[in-house]
Amino acid sequence: MNPSRRPLICGNWKMNHGGPSGVELAMAVARLAKAYPRVDLAVAPPFTALAACAHECEAANVAVAAQDLHPGASGAFTGEVSGPMLRDAGCTWVIVGHSERRQRFGDTDAWVAEKAAAALSHGLSPIVCVGEKLAEREAGTTLTVVKVQVDAVVDVLAGATQPVAIAYEPVWAIGTGKNATPADAEEVHAAIRGWLHDRSPGLAARTRILYGGSLKGDNAPGLLGCANVDGGLIGGASLDAVAFGAIAQAAQAIAAG
Ligand code: PGA
Repeated sequence: MNPSRRPLICGNWKMNHGGPSGVELAMAVARLAKAYPRVDLAVAPPFTALAACAHECEAANVAVAAQDLHPGASGAFTGEVSGPMLRDAGCTWVIVGHSERRQRFGDTDAWVAEKAAAALSHGLSPIVCVGEKLAEREAGTTLTVVKVQVDAVVDVLAGATQPVAIAYEPVWAIGTGKNATPADAEEVHAAIRGWLHDRSPGLAARTRILYGGSLKGDNAPGLLGCANVDGGLIGGASLDAVAFGAIAQAAQAIAAG
């Protein structure tokens, strides 16, 4: 972590905790925020729980993120949710390009860039997810693959006036219990920082690059301690306040030096 960037620890609840259990979890995360003042905490509940969670999070300064959005503002898009609707529900962040969306719902680099641009135009901060699949890592093409994904959004992010984040999430590490080693993560994070720097030194300095993929309390000190890792995007361990708190605690300890 670099002291010029506040760590961001965001829980991606995926298709879990969409009702009363989500509100309870949001309340627990709001309590955690008081214990970890050097860390920005965020939760990404399902759409159905966004407004209720935002209500619990607001006073505690815990941000609420959506897990996706449609790039349009309104219209005949059955089943979709737009940026202005997410703002109305209390979101300030939105995840775009998660590997589950890319793999199972056809999100392409161009569509992810459109979503990131729409998020920014509606006053939301995007967390753009990138990452290689196992076969790509084994073939030695990780940096090539991730660069294509970053290149697709770099102009959009460079034009942003609000905070932006990139989450490096190796697909083989998501939900598998197999995290990247700190050295492997740092190699990719440093490369992403370098590509952002090539576009604009200011963009490189202000973009938080999060690690995601089986991040937990026990591996968080190593991963979050890397120079170019500015926080985490957490799936499984975000579903429980104690497990999520252990990651926030690690971030707080590193940020406190
Ligand atoms: P995981 O998920 O922490 O369960 O690996 C991370 C993510 O998908 O964002």
